[in-house]
Amino acid sequence: MSAQSVLTVLEKLAYPVIQIGITHEGQWLSGPNALAAFQSGDLAELTPVSMLPAPDGGKLYRVCQPGSPDCTCKVMGAFDIAFPALHGTFGEDGTIQGLLELADVAYVGSGVLASSVGMDKALFKDLMRTAGVPVAASWLLTRNEIESNMAQTVEKIDQLGRYPYFVKPANLGSSVGISKVHHAAELNAALTLAAEYDRRVLVEVGINAREIEVSVLGNQEVAASLPGEIIPTDEFYSYNAKYLDGTSRLLIPAPLTQAQSDQIREFAMRAYRAADCAGLARVDFLLDKDSGEIFISEINTMPGFTRISMYPKLWEASGVSYPELVEKLLALAVERKADHERTHYCYGGQA
Ligand SMILES: Nc1ncnc2c1ncn2[C@@H]1O[C@H](COP(=O)(O)OP(=O)(O)O)[C@@H](O)[C@H]1O
Ligand SMILES: [Mg+2]
Repeated sequence: MSAQSVLTVLEKLAYPVIQIGITHEGQWLSGPNALAAFQSGDLAELTPVSMLPAPDGGKLYRVCQPGSPDCTCKVMGAFDIAFPALHGTFGEDGTIQGLLELADVAYVGSGVLASSVGMDKALFKDLMRTAGVPVAASWLLTRNEIESNMAQTVEKIDQLGRYPYFVKPANLGSSVGISKVHHAAELNAALTLAAEYDRRVLVEVGINAREIEVSVLGNQEVAASLPGEIIPTDEFYSYNAKYLDGTSRLLIPAPLTQAQSDQIREFAMRAYRAADCAGLARVDFLLDKDSGEIFISEINTMPGFTRISMYPKLWEASGVSYPELVEKLLALAVERKADHERTHYCYGGQA
């Protein structure tokens, strides 16, 4: 859905676009109407393509079965800027960004480091502690620890006595694998579920929170939008509340005092810089309803990007329209690439 929204704008602005869809199995398929084909599920007309992990000017090659009679190395096209309208694992976690780095092309959004740190909630929280941005108390467990010593793990967490807890896979999103744990009897199932989705599991103290989000944009110069608020329909902002029941509400701007808004925006930009983000990120906060404390929750380096997603809507409310935002992101991708080119990658005159 993000790709659909971006594509509509790029076409309106008359950018020539090469569409590439990626199947759940990881195959790249391209064609003039790749998006429509993916939407209909009829992929037969699309061409399997790939990039090489080598700097060749953003070329896309046709992939064919080894040994087939027409198996020649055929260039299908070349591009100047990649827009990875991809969320989550393999799209937002630094892996595809690594390929784009090796191919030496400009691309929208954060690089390898910021993408992977943004994806790993445990490392991100450690980084925030260093940067002086408050985070809720949390503990990192490994799948191995959980599986080999469930009873002891449950007992240890129970003894902390800080219910409710949120138990979550360290690397995921969309609230998949996340449970709110109200008492000890729910811990075992929550840990088991989270460990199905990642080797690393985070146990976090639950905050009785308002959920506030800020959009950040820029490379060296960074700007933060007005904060927005989410009113989830579920007990927390679950997968169901995010995508299925459609009744969670967004308040834009969030009803906050000037001081709260300023503080949250400052934390958002500090987090963005500390993680070395580029292009864009949505930074999410928990505002404690009881104490008024502000905790950073997570950073999303490729946030939902449909016209009605929080990230662009916050910019719209802050004076940047959706088409302007898309063009700014392309310009930031080019700027970041130019900055990269100033770095020496060899020493002593060796090529
Ligand atoms: N420590 C916490 N206190 C209160 N609510 C939380 C906490 N952690 C997660 N949640 C709830 O779970 C949702 C999803 O958690 P989050 O860490 O943002 O993961 P995801 O990457 O899946 O969005 C949040 O939007 C919030 O509703
Ligand atoms: Mg979230």
